[in-house]
Amino acid sequence: MKTLKAVILVGGEGTRLRPLTYSRPKPMVPVAGRPLLEHVIERLARYGVREVVLALGYLPDAIRAYFGDGSSLGIALSYEVEEKPLGTAGAVRRLLPSFDGSFLVLNGDILMEVDIAALVRRHHEKGAVATLTIHEVEDPRPFGLVEVDEEGRVVRFLEKPKQPPFPCRTVNSGLYVLEPEALSWVEEDVHRMFETDVFPSLLARREKVCSYLRSGPWRDIGTPSSYLAMNMEALGQEQGLRSGEGSRIHSSAEVKGPVLLGRGCRIEKDATLRGPVVLGDGCIVEEGARVERSVLWERVRVGRKAHVVDAVLADGVVIEPGVALPPGTVLGSGESALAATKSGQASSR
Ligand code: GDD
Ligand code: MG
Repeated sequence: MKTLKAVILVGGEGTRLRPLTYSRPKPMVPVAGRPLLEHVIERLARYGVREVVLALGYLPDAIRAYFGDGSSLGIALSYEVEEKPLGTAGAVRRLLPSFDGSFLVLNGDILMEVDIAALVRRHHEKGAVATLTIHEVEDPRPFGLVEVDEEGRVVRFLEKPKQPPFPCRTVNSGLYVLEPEALSWVEEDVHRMFETDVFPSLLARREKVCSYLRSGPWRDIGTPSSYLAMNMEALGQEQGLRSGEGSRIHSSAEVKGPVLLGRGCRIEKDATLRGPVVLGDGCIVEEGARVERSVLWERVRVGRKAHVVDAVLADGVVIEPGVALPPGTVLGSGESALAATKSGQASSR
């Protein structure tokens, strides 16, 4: 396979993931201890992609500082920063002069398995201007609905369909192979979306837009609950305890994997960690506290006898002693759950 360039779209503000995205842009939220975007790039590299452009806008510095030129991940990485959001297609349109043939575009907030070589082969066999990866879901409403004919040619693209009955259950997985012609007619430097502008226009003009039906794991991190699920799935493949440098676990603590600890964590006497659990660097779980099916970022402190279940706690969160967080609690960076929550809803300050 000729090596392909890939554009990863990471310019969204991640509003639905608030409060987590106040302090870290969505691509940098940790999944099983490493930024989501690192997992995405690694998977591309595994499938033979060697050149990646990150199309970004919101909080670009943190991303650039972490990934640099991409050499540590075995790829050549470059950055295209939008001053104001250009939309998914507008962001790619400005890169067009640097592409000389087919290229990949993907949403940067998704972990999935795709046989990219097979996808690209199909795209060329069909002679399409665009090939969209699709998969089936129960409820298409949060996605782009992609209706195809018996040959797999796309006949309709409907972003976030509102009302059932839906004509089909196949949706946009967020990865495309495109020819430059799919975008060359789009004006430069205007806000354009693949989902609501480009794909519907290509279809209206009877351009050949094809689909590639994929199966296997697929997860986006649109919301805190899907973010938690993504972590649980990523850890589900592991067993037992993996612990970073300088972390200490008291001999009386109960640890049931999968549990992933960063560096310099402290798990005190009689504490319980019941996996899947991820703790970032410098977390402290105090005496008798319990953490279960949760993701804690860096420097989180869980006070004595506090309970944390099905929760996502961002950097520096403090859970006061004795607090039982309602399951599903999500706290942003630096927030603190007070003792007042012992009997009721989590309040935060
Ligand atoms: N560079 C850039 N500029 N990137 C952007 C912009 C922009 O103006 N707007 C959004 N993005 C990036 C986001 O950072 C994200 O990685 C990706 O484009 C998709 O945007 P989301 O805001 O996450 O869209 P969505 O999840 O509601 O829907 C999209 O993904 C679904 C699959 O998860 C659509 O593509 C749907 O059709 C699809 O089914
Ligand atoms: Mg998304």
